[in-house]
Amino acid sequence: MIKPGFGYLFPKTIYINNCIYELKSWFKGWDNFVKRFLFEDAFKILDLNKKDYFLEIGPGGSLAFSVEASKKSKMVYCIDSCKNIPTYLKNRRKPENLNFVLGNCNKLPFANNFFDKIFISDVIPVLKNPKKCISEIFRVLKTGGLILTINGNNYPLLEEVWKEQEMEDFIIKINKKSKNKITANFYLKKNIKLHQTQSNFYKNPKKAIDVLLKSFRFCEIKHVFRVSSVSEKFICRLLIKNLANNGDWGFGENQMQYFNELKNLESKNSHELNSGLFLISSAKKR
Ligand SMILES: C[S@@+](CC[C@H](N)C(=O)[O-])C[C@H]1O[C@@H](n2cnc3c(N)ncnc32)[C@H](O)[C@@H]1O
Repeated sequence: MIKPGFGYLFPKTIYINNCIYELKSWFKGWDNFVKRFLFEDAFKILDLNKKDYFLEIGPGGSLAFSVEASKKSKMVYCIDSCKNIPTYLKNRRKPENLNFVLGNCNKLPFANNFFDKIFISDVIPVLKNPKKCISEIFRVLKTGGLILTINGNNYPLLEEVWKEQEMEDFIIKINKKSKNKITANFYLKKNIKLHQTQSNFYKNPKKAIDVLLKSFRFCEIKHVFRVSSVSEKFICRLLIKNLANNGDWGFGENQMQYFNELKNLESKNSHELNSGLFLISSAKKR
């Protein structure tokens, strides 16, 4: 079962007019059910303990993963270049051991050999010079420390799902709302643009990450694929339906139900995947 409150930070002040909204937000937790599913794997691999100095690079607006990590580690730092995050944090009750730094991951403002564990999810594909970031990670990681990275590959089955008979009604609805006829390819390109992803990365994410890690003295490099084709199609259908109903590709209110459906599908279909929608890679500093 999905845990309510995942990654949620209470506001400093609760007014009568926002308390229902905050209660709902607490209950729902971070509203990205696909990432929450992957982050269960991430927590298992990281195996955080109360002595750990932990760094998350590019946590995104809600800092959800870092918030959860702060419950299990000694000290958590996160760094992101997004200027909206300090404004969000100003109004929230932040755990004492959670530190946010506004900055660039190509120039980490930390001492050498400072962290036990470093996590970076879906940031490497957006960087123009990912090697610089990995060299910085290598520098600030202790010897024997762990790097864990999760990277997606932009829904390769979306075009297939788009052509399914069942999707026809929704696609008609999307195209009625939009001035331009929206195709799967339009969606995929827009997704790349939105996150400013280096589209070359998607040609072979595993090779891209493997080459990066092997450029430095990382050892015990492991790659695990997650989200099988069956689940990927399930997610694609949800994306198309949301695009038709809400005009955007967020997963909306029902994400807790979706999370459980995804877990169920994956338990039946994800045995030793050789490919998948996401790649989880880990390595240690030699
Ligand atoms: C696609 S989002 C991923 C967010 C989150 N980690 C997740 O998995 O959902 C990429 C994040 O990386 C941050 N980012 C991009 N370039 C960066 C840089 N050079 N230094 C620090 N953060 C960066 C962005 O601001 C954004 O929050």
